[in-house]
Amino acid sequence: MSDFAAHIDRELTRFHDELEAFLRIPSISTDPEHANDVRACADWVAEHLLAAGMGEAEVIETGGHPIVVGERIHSEEAPTVLVYGHYDVQPSEPDELWTSPPFEPEVRDGRLYARGSIDDKGQVHMHIKALEARLASGADVPVNLKLVIEGEEEVGSRHLAAFLHEHAERLACDAILVSDTGMFSPELPCITTGLRGIVYTEINVHGPWSDLHSGTYGGAVVNPANALAAILAGLRDEHGRATVPGYYDAVRPISPRERADLERLPMDEETLRAGVGAPALGGEAGFSALERLWYRPTLDVNGLLSGFTGEGSKTVLPSQAMAKVSMRLVPDQDPAQVVEAFEARVRELAPEGVTVEIKRSHGGAPWVADTEHPIFDAASAALESGFGAPPAYIREGGSIPIVQEFEKTFGAPALLIGFALPGCNMHAPDEWIDLGVYRKGIAALADLYGRLGEPLA
Ligand code: BES
Ligand code: ZN
Repeated sequence: MSDFAAHIDRELTRFHDELEAFLRIPSISTDPEHANDVRACADWVAEHLLAAGMGEAEVIETGGHPIVVGERIHSEEAPTVLVYGHYDVQPSEPDELWTSPPFEPEVRDGRLYARGSIDDKGQVHMHIKALEARLASGADVPVNLKLVIEGEEEVGSRHLAAFLHEHAERLACDAILVSDTGMFSPELPCITTGLRGIVYTEINVHGPWSDLHSGTYGGAVVNPANALAAILAGLRDEHGRATVPGYYDAVRPISPRERADLERLPMDEETLRAGVGAPALGGEAGFSALERLWYRPTLDVNGLLSGFTGEGSKTVLPSQAMAKVSMRLVPDQDPAQVVEAFEARVRELAPEGVTVEIKRSHGGAPWVADTEHPIFDAASAALESGFGAPPAYIREGGSIPIVQEFEKTFGAPALLIGFALPGCNMHAPDEWIDLGVYRKGIAALADLYGRLGEPLA
C-alpha cells in the first residue's frame, strides 16, 4: 500500500468529521438570507486548504459570493493543474421530505446524508484530502497546483467568467480538473467526456388587468392559462421533438462508435425507471434512454404558475400565467441561436388576446472533451489504482457551463472525474455521498496528483 493510502485509512474518521462540519454550513447561494453562511463556508475552505498544505489560500470578493483561490507552487518548470469546484449548495426545500435534517449530516448504511454531500462539497473535500494525504505522507505533488472553488455555481456562476479573465495570469494552467459529475456504479469509476449546455427562460402571459369572474367573462376574454397551455403544448410534437425551427440542425448525429460505446455500458432502463418511481420512461422517439440523456437536446417545463391553486375551487379567469422552460443542448447547438428561435416560436404559438413576455435566465454551451489528450491516460491509470477497475468514458445530461469558459480562457483541456452515484439525490431531499467511494476517490485523486506532471510536461 502506498504511504498516502495508509494515511487516508488512518485518518478516515477525522476526514468524515471534517466533511460533516463543512456540510453543516448552509451555504445556499440563491438565498440572500444565507449570504453570511456562504461567506463562512468560503473561509472554511480556505482554512482547510492551508491546513492540508496548500501554500496560499485566499478568499476573494466578487460582486456576489466570494471565490476561494489556493496556490501551491512546485517549481517553475513543472506544469500547472487548476482544480475547480463549488462550495455553494442548492436550497434544501421541501425539508419535511428529508429523513434527517439537510444540514445535520447523518451516516446511514455507508452513506453520508446532507445537502451538498455530493454536489459539490463532498467532492471538493476529496481534493483537499488527496492533497493532504500526499503531503503528509511525504509523497509531494510534482505539479503546480491551483484551486478555484466558487460560491455561485448553483446560480449560474454569475461572476466566475469575469473573474477568470481578470486573474488570467495568476490562474494560468495546463489542465483543468473538475469533480462535479457522476459515475456508473461504486465499482465503475468514470471520466465524463461530454456535458449538455442549457438555455433557461421564463414565459409570462398577460391577459386582462386583473383576475376576473370566470362566469361573467369566461368564453369572451382570452384566458392566459389556456393560452400558456397552448403555447407549451405546441412547443413539442407527438414524437417528443421540439418544434422550434432549426432546433436539430446543428445536432451531431450519434456515430456508430459512440453507439457501440453506449451499448457496452452496464445500463438497464428498468433500473433507471424504478429508481425514479415513474410509471414508464419516455422521450424523443427512436432513441435509447442514454442517447436521450447524453446525445439529444430537450425542451422541458421546469415550473408553472397560474390562477387558483388552493384547496377547493374558485371560479376565476386568471389575469396572467407563467412557465419556466429550459432546453438542454448538445454539440453543436448554439445557445444564442436557440434562444432567438425559441422566442420566435413562442410568439408564433401565442393566441390573439394575450401579450407574451419572455425573460432569459442563465445559459451555457454544450461541451465535449478531446479524449486524445494524454491526460486521459494518466486519469485512467489513477482511477484504476483507486478503484481496482479502469474507468468508463461517459457523458452527463447535466451542465457545468463554466467548463467551456475555463478551456477557452486558459487554452487547456478539462478533465472531469466525478463521484456521484445514480440515485444520489442531487438537488433533491436525502442527498448522499457513498463513503466507500469517498475513500477510494481520495486515493485515486492522490494518485492522479502524482501522475499529472508527465502528460502535461
Ligand atoms: N453538479 C451539477 C452538474 C451535474 C448535474 C453533473 C448532473 C452531472 C449530473 C451542477 O452543480 C449543476 O447542478 N449544474 C446546473 C447548471 C445550471 C445551474 C446552469 C444544472 O445542470 O442544472
Ligand atoms: Zn448542482
